[in-house]
Amino acid sequence: MDVLSDSEELLYELIASARCVADSAWCPYSRFAVGAALLTASGRIVAGCNVENASSGLTICAERNAVFQAVAAGERSFRQLVVYTPTPEPTSPCGACRQVLAEFAPTLPILCVCDGPSRLETSLSELLPHAFGPESINPAASSVDSET
Ligand code: THU
Repeated sequence: MDVLSDSEELLYELIASARCVADSAWCPYSRFAVGAALLTASGRIVAGCNVENASSGLTICAERNAVFQAVAAGERSFRQLVVYTPTPEPTSPCGACRQVLAEFAPTLPILCVCDGPSRLETSLSELLPHAFGPESINPAASSVDSET
């Protein structure tokens, strides 16, 4: 019988959550339902899906939706992101989402899963090197300033 470590179990939960929230995506234009699940420093899982709009520039990606929901829930520190896309191979977050994630977690580990067996294990440091962040504006500021 397989025995899973706590972190493996947590990862399974995050993957299940990312896949599950994709079912809630509002994507009548692209028919591309994406799910994202963030593990917060306090151990919570916060999920988000993409929400499209007839005015297409207003569409929000699953990853940014997850970040905004987490921030609204008082969570600003993240340990892991899992992204599900309905593709045969894993795909990574778009540039806008990378920038938004970097505000809070510039080295965030990211796991991308899809409808096939492949996975992409990466990190925000790899996807967005030399990022523009809070410290670019104020070198004294840390990337996560919980007081502001
Ligand atoms: N999308 C995401 O939600 N996350 C990504 O990483 C890539 C793209 C959404 C935006 C749009 O609703 C649809 O996928 C097609 O681009």
